Amino acid sequence: VYKLFIRPILFLFDPEKIHHFTFSLLSLAGFIPGKKWALRQLFCYENKNLEREYFGLKFPNPVGLAAGFDKDAKLIDELACFGFGFIEIGTLTPKGQFGNEKPRLFRLPEDKAVINRMGFNNGGVEEAVKRLKKRSSSILIGGNIGKNKNTPNEEAYKDYELGFEALFDHVDYFVVNVSSPNTPNLRALQDKKPLTEILSKLQILNRQKSKSKPLLLKIAPDLTVDQLNDIVEIVKDVKLDGLIATNTTISREGLITTNDKLDKIGAGGLSGAPVKDKSNEVIIYLRKALGNEFPIIGVGGIMTVDDAVEKIKAGASLIQVYTGFIYQGPGFIKSINKKLASM
Ligand SMILES: Cc1cc2nc3c(=O)[nH]c(=O)nc-3n(C[C@H](O)[C@H](O)[C@H](O)COP(=O)(O)O)c2cc1C
Repeated sequence: VYKLFIRPILFLFDPEKIHHFTFSLLSLAGFIPGKKWALRQLFCYENKNLEREYFGLKFPNPVGLAAGFDKDAKLIDELACFGFGFIEIGTLTPKGQFGNEKPRLFRLPEDKAVINRMGFNNGGVEEAVKRLKKRSSSILIGGNIGKNKNTPNEEAYKDYELGFEALFDHVDYFVVNVSSPNTPNLRALQDKKPLTEILSKLQILNRQKSKSKPLLLKIAPDLTVDQLNDIVEIVKDVKLDGLIATNTTISREGLITTNDKLDKIGAGGLSGAPVKDKSNEVIIYLRKALGNEFPIIGVGGIMTVDDAVEKIKAGASLIQVYTGFIYQGPGFIKSINKKLASM
């Protein structure tokens, strides 16, 4: 129903407006009695075979919602009704910021892809905390943290510390995001020295807590082998709990969309089908380098149930979706989980 009737109408309009429109619809519908129950009946799928345990957390199923969809934790209770095993909020920055100028979100239907240069538009970490305090769903939440655009890289660690402290009591795991292509120079923080500094400082704060929280790092699909080797060393040195591979790519290789249209769209991170192979290659490399037990959350280009299976075969312990959820609609998570349960 979604792909035949609803998606063709939604795809007629500006993607960012549609995102806000569906968010408003979902939150308005929150006032209808029994709505969440009905959504859960339609879209949730429970099965013992789907349960996973990583970094001390019990996931009811391995399929999560990737960062960027509900940056500000506005719809946790509603999104939990779509059958996700966990939801990652953010990227959140200490201060709220508007992000880049619009338009900044573009569909590439021929390629089953999206290009975005949102630039960490978010209401700031404190607003998200207020919402998290009010949520009623007990779904596992990841807190994805970043730095404000105006914070120089030398002081970036302070922004990550602020995000970490503010969210500490309200999320189940943390993700350090240094891999978005849409904040100028952010990805320079993926270099060994600044990255080790940020992560070590966070681990110091983490260890001071009575019970520390899992700390993960989200990486780009565009890293060289040398950079991936650095990441492997950092994982060991800083004792990271897991990696999220991958964010969007800056590459435009192999697209069907014309160069003319791509030039008009301009800069941004590409997600969806074209990022799948790159992201899987990164996962395969990391899985080999880090051994079978190390938790890797695989994300990037899961557009079909088979893509989800492929991601797990590449070595992902858990998976996340974003673009596939937009293209396939709300039944996608249940379809993936049914398949995974039967394996
Ligand atoms: C519109 C949009 C906004 C995103 N915002 C964020 C973000 O704020 N933080 C982040 O870590 N990743 C963000 N991502 C990246 C996704 O979490 C994911 O890593 C990437 O899109 C690849 O997965 P996909 O092919 O399933 O979309 C965003 C992706 C899209 C399409």
